[in-house]
Amino acid sequence: MLTKKKTGGLAGIVAGDSAICLCNADEESLLYRGYSIDDLAPHASFEEVAWLLTRGSPPTRQELQSYRQNLVRLRALPKPLEAILDNIPKNANKMDVLRTACSALGTIESENNHQIEIADRLIAALPAALFYWQNKRSLLENEETHAGYLLHQIIGKIPDEIHRRCIDVSLILYAEHEFNASTFTVRTIASTLSDFYSAICGGIGALRGPLHGGANEAAMELMQQFSTPRQAEEGIRQMLAEKKLIMGFGHRVYTTRDPRSDIIKEWARKLCSTIEDERLFAIAEAIENRMRKEKQLFPNLDFYSALAYHFCGIPTSLFTPFFVFSRLTGWSAHLIEQRSNNKLIRPISNYIGPTQHAWKPL
Ligand code: COA
Repeated sequence: MLTKKKTGGLAGIVAGDSAICLCNADEESLLYRGYSIDDLAPHASFEEVAWLLTRGSPPTRQELQSYRQNLVRLRALPKPLEAILDNIPKNANKMDVLRTACSALGTIESENNHQIEIADRLIAALPAALFYWQNKRSLLENEETHAGYLLHQIIGKIPDEIHRRCIDVSLILYAEHEFNASTFTVRTIASTLSDFYSAICGGIGALRGPLHGGANEAAMELMQQFSTPRQAEEGIRQMLAEKKLIMGFGHRVYTTRDPRSDIIKEWARKLCSTIEDERLFAIAEAIENRMRKEKQLFPNLDFYSALAYHFCGIPTSLFTPFFVFSRLTGWSAHLIEQRSNNKLIRPISNYIGPTQHAWKPL
């Protein structure tokens, strides 16, 4: 008889090999293709990290320049996609719009291109599709960097360098995180030999939930419920007493610290001092302190990313889409890796249903 091991949520299960990312809970570290985020966040650009993840090694100066130009070119949307976006209601959820845009692009530009070209196309075109849907027109500024382009679309002008760089760093931190729920979904879909776009649609769907990418929006809503740090501490105490989840805290893999959190927290601190409004930052720190005291839980990347995005002028409903704009790189890298040595992903379940009955025909 087959022995089955039960594991809730596949916690601690090694589900395959990967050379893309090392998420080391003991050392509280994170490496992309062997490079630490502690080096990448201050010294690299998102485009370099996107290239590193999707191609396997860093770009040369010339490759980086032509990659940036290519992404600018690939922002142009096909007319049939614009027509589909024109028909999506204004009040739709932005993650639904992205998922639909990805699916539509897959029917218009089906997988004839080389897979790396599809990755580049999605990284460039999905933000453009969302902004087209929001504004009902294409705004193809010649912003060379992805971060500059994204911010320009939102604030309607060339962003300040401090905000642009904060977004650049955030995109680096969000780019990849091994077998998280959305990436595993992408790999599972890819493992059936399905197409690139279907796998990415699955990733977007998995990321949308508040236990995963949706946590950054939920964390912002949480912080904004409070007017003072004291009120925040009391509110969190009460929520914990009611066994509520505090969004932006805890992690399945890290047990003591999320190595990405301190980096983005410093950006949030820097930005709040430039606008001379430290109230929200103080509220965030009060929540962090209370969570440490009561639950020994630490902020994950989503908590202070929410604050950094807020200080950059990004509306809360775009926080999870920003996660997609970045994670498209990690998803694409995993999809390509899965295909390179494919094995159908098909685990088994632990049956807890009724024992066999005889079927009584009506
Ligand atoms: N707020 C309050 N309690 C939390 C918590 C949170 N954010 N995260 C974990 N806990 C508690 C659980 O309630 C549980 O307590 P119990 O043992 O008294 O029942 C304990 O910590 C263990 O949590 P568990 O749900 O088993 O951990 P997990 O590995 O399944 O969950 C997350 C990991 C990320 C899903 C979980 O921490 C969470 O829901 N966080 C909030 C959502 C979030 O920020 N998601 C983004 C992740 S990067």
